[in-house]
Amino acid sequence: MEEKWWMRSVVYQIYPRSFCDSNQDGVGDLNGIRSKIPYLKKLGIDVIWLSPVYESPNADNGYDISNYYAISPEFGTMEEMKSLIRECRESGIRIVMDLVVNHTSDEHAWFLEAKKSEDSPYRDYYIWRKGEAGSPPNDLRACFGGSAWEYSEETGAHYLHLFGVKQPDLNWENDAVRKEIWNMMNYWIDLGIGGFRMDVIDLIGKVPDQGITGNGPMLHTYLQEMNRETFGTKDLLTVGECWGADPEKGRMYSDPARRELSMIFQFEQSMLDEQPGKEKWDLRPLQLRELKQVFTRWQTEMEGHGWNSLFWNNHDLPRIVSRWGDDGVYRVASAKMLATLLHGMKGTPYIYQGEEIGMTNMPFHSFTEFQDIESLNMIQERLEKGYLPEEIMKSLRAKSRDNARTPMQWNSGLQAGFTEGQPWCPVNPNYREINAARALGDQDSIFYYYQKLINLRKTEDILIYGSYELLLPEDENIYAYMRAWQGKKWLIVCNFYKEPVPFSYEGTGRTILSNYKENSRTIQNLNNRNLRPYEAAIYELEM
Ligand code: GLC
Ligand code: CA
Repeated sequence: MEEKWWMRSVVYQIYPRSFCDSNQDGVGDLNGIRSKIPYLKKLGIDVIWLSPVYESPNADNGYDISNYYAISPEFGTMEEMKSLIRECRESGIRIVMDLVVNHTSDEHAWFLEAKKSEDSPYRDYYIWRKGEAGSPPNDLRACFGGSAWEYSEETGAHYLHLFGVKQPDLNWENDAVRKEIWNMMNYWIDLGIGGFRMDVIDLIGKVPDQGITGNGPMLHTYLQEMNRETFGTKDLLTVGECWGADPEKGRMYSDPARRELSMIFQFEQSMLDEQPGKEKWDLRPLQLRELKQVFTRWQTEMEGHGWNSLFWNNHDLPRIVSRWGDDGVYRVASAKMLATLLHGMKGTPYIYQGEEIGMTNMPFHSFTEFQDIESLNMIQERLEKGYLPEEIMKSLRAKSRDNARTPMQWNSGLQAGFTEGQPWCPVNPNYREINAARALGDQDSIFYYYQKLINLRKTEDILIYGSYELLLPEDENIYAYMRAWQGKKWLIVCNFYKEPVPFSYEGTGRTILSNYKENSRTIQNLNNRNLRPYEAAIYELEM
């Protein structure tokens, strides 16, 4: 495959509401982000994926947009947005904007017009079905619970919303809608952004009357049209969020020959700790062997026909160190192990704010502490269904999106240095121990370990081009794999758990990186070793 700049890049996701507050109103903002460019530069990332900063009534924290051409006043102004893009460029960092076009807010001008009358020129921008209140056209469910159809009195019809009732779905079959979206994307491209992260993009080809939501028949036709009409000739990074993708579908989006997207986010690994066929709240322990199978399938089946994204976290997922690492005694070791496992693979790594300092889930105690629409709807739904409050709480503590959205922990001062005001969401009480200032003052911190991993990706072609081969597929404790490129071989080995475990590889190697103090650069005998709790290392094999 032709080399692209984003193959060597590492992306850092910013959830602006929780990153850094510059004017003490308790909400993170664009000027706050601008003040942290040196921090991001130090970490070494080259791309920022910015979660939505557009005008929004915030029914879903910005994933409900009321104007794609305006910045939400709580985040700043369009002038500040342009300054952020320019200042990042000057530091070699590109900005990838969140593109939320499966739906708009119900307060978007299009929807306000559309719902007034069947004769509105905007009526067909959305998906309407005539019918009586209380009897929706079919039993499609919304991702945030309840029916996907909402009755609208003005015209006696239901509109489709695959997420919240304040997030009506756009009608992609309408040429005028697609044209509006291409124009809007081109507006942002002209401002000099580095690409788009496309929110729930696999839903745009839906056929609601047949119950088809993801992977609809027109999905790829629309994406090819988007590519032609907007970024196709622009050398941008485009990444689609695709909850319903397997590797075969992954190739359809990302095979360069098909001219669609650079890569997608797939979620097969994220669904391994839930009961199959049930909801994310229905917990089940992770089986390491299944994780290996999923990653390995994506690593091998995309080879030559597409490109992988690599991520543990985002604003919708619990913190990885709490989820599959250890957020107690082995927090630092396990965070580094998980980073090694992921950044050693082939693809473009994404880091979610706070991951680089090992931020953890929030110790929630009461239902009143949750703010996310998905959590609130789930509490109501499960209480009505008769679930015990303790069970609901257990699921929320493990999986609620609120975990990822607590303010970034900058220092041990008041409100973790996120704001001098009252934060929109409480700071995790562990901020005195876990914060960026402390990480920057400790050469052994998770931060500097990420910095090393990022730097390796810049300097070592084997990480970009090398083949991937899984070792010990049946082992239940160790994740080990080999990368190989032009006569060079790297062995990546991770003890996924806290119990020490024997490991043996016939050969010797030089340590490239390890989360335990090793004499780096010295030659290690890899035969008959004992891996310590959460031990991880990259070895260059002696050939
Ligand atoms: C995506 C976003 C999520 C949002 C949803 C609806 O999954 O990542 O935060 O709630 O789409 O826009
Ligand atoms: Ca602010």
